[in-house]
Amino acid sequence: MQIVEQLVPLRGIVEQLRQDGPLALVPTMGALHEGHLTLVREARVLAAHVAVSIFVNPRQFGVGEDLASYPRPRARDLELLEAGGVSLVWAPEMAEMYPPGYATNVAVSGVSDRLCGAARPGHFDGVATVVCKLFNQVQPDLALFGEKDWQQLTVIRRMAHDLDLTRPYAADIYGVPTVREADGLAMSSRNAYLTPGERARAAALPQAMRGAIARIADGGDVTACLGELQQALLAAGFASVDYAELCDADTLAPLVAKSDAPARLLVAARIGKARLIDNMAV
Ligand code: PAF
Repeated sequence: MQIVEQLVPLRGIVEQLRQDGPLALVPTMGALHEGHLTLVREARVLAAHVAVSIFVNPRQFGVGEDLASYPRPRARDLELLEAGGVSLVWAPEMAEMYPPGYATNVAVSGVSDRLCGAARPGHFDGVATVVCKLFNQVQPDLALFGEKDWQQLTVIRRMAHDLDLTRPYAADIYGVPTVREADGLAMSSRNAYLTPGERARAAALPQAMRGAIARIADGGDVTACLGELQQALLAAGFASVDYAELCDADTLAPLVAKSDAPARLLVAARIGKARLIDNMAV
């Protein structure tokens, strides 16, 4: 496994790896868990070589968010990636990603605007900008992202399509289903912020979502079901609910009634120091 921190050597290594066949990219901010390792395993099935990027991207953190405290267990991350059969770790230094004078922003309107985009202004500009740069740097044939960040995946698909970054020009984008703990909680690097008591209560999130989905599927009134879901989370010890919405799975437009088009229930809620997000197909 080669670990590269600068762009010039990256180019040569990528060129070499691509001689063996398709190269897959799994972009991460490190603090790896089973969800990331599942992306790596899927990538290994699809490609001859897997590159994983590790970069805690300051542009996607808002003022007062957890940039400084975001976990950075680098040695452990590298061990996991080596054991996972990764060929290349792209871990650019800050000045390599955003050199002095850096002034370009990628903003994806529409799908970025609501939900996490409203709660975290500028977040998806930061994500779209860094993912666009990662695609240009690594030039992968395919890239894999977790469906846990459904809105992020939607923004990245839109960005890649609009900027001609998808095949035949560049990467195919794969969404990989969310990996969950035994009690249903979606795996996330931010689960590390939960105390044991909060961690136990956090399982109410997927449970309440499953309950709401069952009631909606039974013909329940969508607004009432979403209201009950929010009440269930507050009763379970969540401090607040940023949003709980039924949305069109592709456009993220809000739905007030279940239709035949694929729909998704998306929720963000705060417990202790953590802001947890989750989504499920309806
Ligand atoms: O999902 C993440 O870990 C990040 O948002 C990503 C896609 C690596 C961009 O920094």
